[in-house]
Amino acid sequence: MIEFSERLRALPGYPLAEIPAIKRKLIEAGVDVIDLGAGDNDTPPPAVAVQAMSDALQDPAYSKYGFQQGLPAFRQAAARWVERRFGFQFDPVTETLPLIGSKEGLSHLPFAVVNPGDVTIVPEPGYQAYIGGSILAGAEPYIAPLLAEHEFLLELEHVPEPVLQRARLVFVNYPNNPTAAVASLEYLERTVAICRRYDILLAYDNAYCDLTFDGYRAPSIFEIPGARAVALEFFSLSKSFSMTGWRIGFAIGRPELITALTRVKSYTDTGPFLAVQQAGAVALDQAEALVAPIRAELERRRDAAVAALREAGFALEAPKAAMYLWVALPGGSASAAFAKRALEDTGVVVLPGSAFGPAGEGYFRIALTVAPDRLRQAAARLGLTLAAGRRGALAPAT
Ligand SMILES: Cc1ncc(COP(=O)(O)O)c(C=O)c1O
Repeated sequence: MIEFSERLRALPGYPLAEIPAIKRKLIEAGVDVIDLGAGDNDTPPPAVAVQAMSDALQDPAYSKYGFQQGLPAFRQAAARWVERRFGFQFDPVTETLPLIGSKEGLSHLPFAVVNPGDVTIVPEPGYQAYIGGSILAGAEPYIAPLLAEHEFLLELEHVPEPVLQRARLVFVNYPNNPTAAVASLEYLERTVAICRRYDILLAYDNAYCDLTFDGYRAPSIFEIPGARAVALEFFSLSKSFSMTGWRIGFAIGRPELITALTRVKSYTDTGPFLAVQQAGAVALDQAEALVAPIRAELERRRDAAVAALREAGFALEAPKAAMYLWVALPGGSASAAFAKRALEDTGVVVLPGSAFGPAGEGYFRIALTVAPDRLRQAAARLGLTLAAGRRGALAPAT
């Protein structure tokens, strides 16, 4: 009999793993399902990226192994974009690294800095790659709860001193998935200072930096003086360019840190498909023009969904960034029960807060992945599930 590793067994489950099966059955039965689950916009990838990809496919050179060096044009475009977007320079050869989506880099990073028994600090609710990569690398994840009363900020000041002493890595993500919270420069300064004091590598996940609303501008961790000593920053083309399935992102940071991650990746993958890197370079060079319409559409969706959810009886603030609404469940219903009921009774897929770890209980997440009208319909249907909960038809959170 094949025995599985303790690390595999230690990976947290997805509490609502049955959602795809329920969804499929409902669709087969003719139900009009509105899927607000995954953060995967219905908007198409940029035509220029599709054309660049199609051209690259005609050239056999792009079908070769990319290795970690990858396509110099992608690294150069990434460095140019960083300079235009944030105003600072990273060397394309030694200080940038193409990734097979930022998830790949984030989940491989613990292998570069963690020894068995070391601690990584992971936010909860949070993106699953942080805890998964930590456990697979043999780290002990320390769960830092993101609480509404602290504006969903991962506060290293609240982590006990002995944990900070043992911590090698912390994952910080703003604009945040799933809470849509944003971080001020003052918060980032405090966070960098603690990482410097305890020699903790700061993995700054900036996957949503360009999906911002109402004129808000999301900072880079490198806007904080001294951050280069301790931080790596991760960017993704998935959300800004509707290229989730293409698997392309990149990391920036000082050469020693980039080299460490490169070394891990040399043994686990051979870099993103070169044709995708070429398309990514084209997209990055036109980022300002390409992202503006996606951002504007998301803002329309946010406005429509927030208004409709309020009308349906939910209390929520309009977030400044990301592509999610993190909605509190009144009345203490279990979020998994709410999500299951919402799907079975009304055909709306939302993610229960508990899917992001126990600290996410009491909330559900909506991804703004469909047009405003569909979001309004979804909100009205969710209002029915809320009313059912108020009548006591849902299990309470434990
Ligand atoms: C916070 C966060 N980081 C990283 C990613 C991964 O993005 P990519 O498609 O680049 O792997 C996601 C995707 O949902 C995310 O929510």
